[in-house]
Amino acid sequence: MTKSTAPATARRLLPDAPLLLAARGERPNRLPVWFMRQAGRSLPEYRELRADQPMLQACMTPELTCEITLQPVRRHGVDAAILFSDIMVPLHAAGVELDIVPGTGPVMERPIRSASDVMALPVLEPEALEPVAAAVRLLVAELGRTPLIGFAGAPFTLASYLVEGGPSRHHERTKALMHSAPDVWHALLDRLADLTLTFLGVQAAAGVDAVQLFDSWAGALSEREYRRFALPHSARVLAGLAGTGLPRIHFGVGTGELLGAMAQAGADVVGVDWRVPLDVAAQRVRAARPHGPVVLQGNLDPAVLLAGWPAIEAQARRVIDEGSAADAHVLNLGHGVLPETDPDMLTRVVELAHSR
Ligand code: CP3
Repeated sequence: MTKSTAPATARRLLPDAPLLLAARGERPNRLPVWFMRQAGRSLPEYRELRADQPMLQACMTPELTCEITLQPVRRHGVDAAILFSDIMVPLHAAGVELDIVPGTGPVMERPIRSASDVMALPVLEPEALEPVAAAVRLLVAELGRTPLIGFAGAPFTLASYLVEGGPSRHHERTKALMHSAPDVWHALLDRLADLTLTFLGVQAAAGVDAVQLFDSWAGALSEREYRRFALPHSARVLAGLAGTGLPRIHFGVGTGELLGAMAQAGADVVGVDWRVPLDVAAQRVRAARPHGPVVLQGNLDPAVLLAGWPAIEAQARRVIDEGSAADAHVLNLGHGVLPETDPDMLTRVVELAHSR
């Protein structure tokens, strides 16, 4: 290991927070619920604030980051805030030239395809993330008893953007690199794991209460590829956080075939997309990791939120029932909130979860 994580000196004690109890495998008296992408374009108050601010600039302006992070907590009464940021922020802070294009996603100025490209990647210094640390400190002071989740992209998902140069359907250049030049691939992921540890270490030291590692595009890989080319690097990140004592959540999309392997990467909570019922997911995780509690997060289909309340309620109740097969459950979506979602439907899902 080349880098260790800074101690979480600023850590608050939130012994009764339902999210933190569930992450340890307990069943708190209230089902914890939050939503991936709860801060964002589904909220009119977000669209107003972001109107003339580029995404990366908003992520590097502490007061704005703090306000955007708080918006969904005030509106919905969710059991966690998630830091408003982006998986590309540590690359941006390190000096890698990229943009986040509305409606498209992250786009790289110069994709990474060769050993010399990998060698030229700048190292991220924690000081470059001072605006992120400042935002976390503001939030911890504002949030009261609501936990703050920090996050980062997993090395594989970051590599996919770097190698493809932007969002990708088939991840063909990424797979070409891993299979044709595994040494270059592993050197790249090794550097990205260091960068991710620095990003999460800064958030931990500034006071986040839990962390989520997003391996959003891991579902593009076969289990064999995942175990060889992605898992060791995610496992190093998750192990590097063990000393902080913070609950670690690990999520990807289309990862039904990978749930067992992902469960072995070392997180405390496994995030599940909408394709696999939570009772089936619980069996897969338990089989792969027979010791310790099975804690699942998910997995209401974000598209169902556009189907009207009767359908949303029926699906949310099904998810909650299926979640009872796990030792503990954190209610969430199976991926991020879609921008066209009526935010009142999210508030009602929170009320439903809390009424049980
Ligand atoms: O969940 C939250 O409320 C916290 C905010 C958050 C954002 N990005 C804000 C954002 C989180 C957790 C992320 C992580 C992220 N970013 C991931 C992993 C999570 C996932 O969805 O799988 C990924 C793959 C990215 C890369 C990225 N950044 C994409 C695909 C996009 C969307 C592009 C678009 O316009 O549709 C972004 C931009 C982005 N990140 C937005 C937000 C709110 C939209 C930008 C805007 O409002 O203009």
